[in-house]
Amino acid sequence: MDRIIIEGGKRLSGRLPISGAKNAALTLLPCALLTEEPVTLRNLPRLADVDSFGHLLNQLGASTTIEGSRPEDFGRVMTLKAGRLTSTVAPYDIVRKMRASIVVLGPLLARGGEATVSLPGGCAIGNRPIDFHLKAFETLGATIEMANGYIRAIAPDGGLKGALITLPFPSVGATENSLMAAALATGETIIENAAREPEIVDLCGLLVEMGSEIEGIGSDRLVIHGKPRLYGATYKVMPDRIEAGSYACAAAITGGELELEGASAEDMHVIITALRDAGVLVEPTKTGIKVSSDGKLRPLTLSTAPHPAFPTDMQAQFMAMLTLADGASVLTETIFENRYMHVPELTRMGADIAVSGRTAIVRGVPKLSGAPVMATDLRASMSLILAGLAADGETQVNRVYHLDRGYERLEEKLGAVGAQIERVSDG
Ligand code: EPZ
Repeated sequence: MDRIIIEGGKRLSGRLPISGAKNAALTLLPCALLTEEPVTLRNLPRLADVDSFGHLLNQLGASTTIEGSRPEDFGRVMTLKAGRLTSTVAPYDIVRKMRASIVVLGPLLARGGEATVSLPGGCAIGNRPIDFHLKAFETLGATIEMANGYIRAIAPDGGLKGALITLPFPSVGATENSLMAAALATGETIIENAAREPEIVDLCGLLVEMGSEIEGIGSDRLVIHGKPRLYGATYKVMPDRIEAGSYACAAAITGGELELEGASAEDMHVIITALRDAGVLVEPTKTGIKVSSDGKLRPLTLSTAPHPAFPTDMQAQFMAMLTLADGASVLTETIFENRYMHVPELTRMGADIAVSGRTAIVRGVPKLSGAPVMATDLRASMSLILAGLAADGETQVNRVYHLDRGYERLEEKLGAVGAQIERVSDG
């Protein structure tokens, strides 16, 4: 397994390119199953999860061709073509490694009339049920069977029928699965209490490019007029607002200044507001955003919630930054039940954090000290990298395969703006 070693205390400065969004890519890729024509995705990030998803789509019958991109380029162009589905089964060994695979259920059901997908099981941050997804499919007329750890969904003769889906919670994945299933259903589907994350808007953008008719894009009430077929398209993946927010925290925690090339301020309002409340300077530029800090950080009270509120995927990174704030911050994690696994590791670096249930009190300390730490999940890993960038001395982050799921060539990007960082392979 690889480790990342950081010698902290270096002020970051310079331009850092932001890649395509992981959480958009992982819902745009399965759209290729909805048509027999080629779908080309540009600005696809080079991430482990994107590779895994490509392998899953290959198993289902989609070809995936990476078009010429130089090794030094960030992002890739991939053309996918599911001329014919050769399988409607997403096996356990893939789904257990990447629970996002669950969003192949909707497209398989819509295109192939059935889908057999391994129950994803929980992950480090929570048990992550999919009951909202399954209820949505039943509302569209599918029957759902569960056996041997697999879900089998079967569309009625004549295919899925448009209906009113009311989500109990604005679940991102359930909204994505419902949208892709409804795209080929007969008639109109309404999704009420839909998730409004920018990645959902990106998914609607691709579906519309493919011939879908969707009203209410960006709102919590989506109306999808089902079509008998969809067509090929070429589409650019949106920039990753969570990656950009993470590197903004890197500028803040090191008292540096970064120009985040390609970042979309439009998608980051609540993250930018929180950074500004913490005393960080953020200004839009022609090609992204510029983030700078004098290193003096103000404490914050933050509660995660569905978009447009503060995103759960930024909680760990802000916590790392706030360990050095001038006062006590209060963070409340309302989305996942176990998303504080970075706390014991940050504490080992000298942070002063007390967790009680869903709330963490982060009392600012004058400095952090480098230490060997263990990554546990994707965003927790990033919080340890951020702490290592600011800490005195050397920090070793182990199990960085977690990082590789969501951050494209992290050590290269940080090294280019002044971090003393290297990846060491234990292999
Ligand atoms: C997506 O996960 C993201 N993943 C997550 O990002 C993100 O944290 C999450 O949305 C919330 O924004 C991808 O897009 C690949 P949810 P998802 O369904 O769709 C409960 C990262 O770090 N729930 O909105 O799984 C669930 O347990 C990852 O990039 C049900 O109870 O999230 C959770 O408490 C982590 N039943 C809450 O809803 C369901 O059927 C939010 O889940 C579905 C969800």
